[in-house]
Amino acid sequence: MAAGRTEIRCLFSAETIAKRVQELAIEITTAYANQPPPLLIGALKGSWIFMADLVRQIKLPICCDFVKLSSYGAGSTTTGQIKMQLDMTLPTKGQHLLIVEDIIDTGLSTDWLIRHLRGKQPASVRVCALLDKPSRRRVPVTIDYLGFTIPDHFIVGYGIDWAEQHRELPYIGYIAEGDAPHGK
Ligand code: IMP
Ligand code: MG
Repeated sequence: MAAGRTEIRCLFSAETIAKRVQELAIEITTAYANQPPPLLIGALKGSWIFMADLVRQIKLPICCDFVKLSSYGAGSTTTGQIKMQLDMTLPTKGQHLLIVEDIIDTGLSTDWLIRHLRGKQPASVRVCALLDKPSRRRVPVTIDYLGFTIPDHFIVGYGIDWAEQHRELPYIGYIAEGDAPHGK
């Protein structure tokens, strides 16, 4: 499928995503059934559509908050220096925190966020990620609930962007080889 001059190929259809999100929600519902429900922390912006779908399938009375991190430097390859642009506001002391991520790529953002949240005296910190690109990992990250493991493609759609474009696509796609950003 072409959007302008960029060729985007479908990796997971809307139907495939919906089925996997429902499975993840059941896993999370079961895991927290006998303890206080988790506080979901969405990592903006890429996780917002995933989180919106996930939260409506989890059968627990959960609260939601958001953080926004960015890597210093221009371009599509992270420099590894994380900056917090928006921190969460709900109280975290003694809470079970569940990070909701779009993609875990190098792992640097999620590793930074886990450390940041552990400093807020929570009962636990776990990670739910829609996509995992293990071939690009620079620091290890434990993913407790994972949607899909993917090869080293540059992903767009279902909330995920390339230079703020393509978030609105209902499917998860990847940029065709020749068009993909450098470093991916
Ligand atoms: P990290 O390299 O694991 O720190 O990933 C940081 C963030 O970069 C992810 O949470 C995504 O928001 C973004 N990112 C990583 N890979 C892609 C991609 O293929 N497409 C769009 N954004 C990406
Ligand atoms: Mg992200």
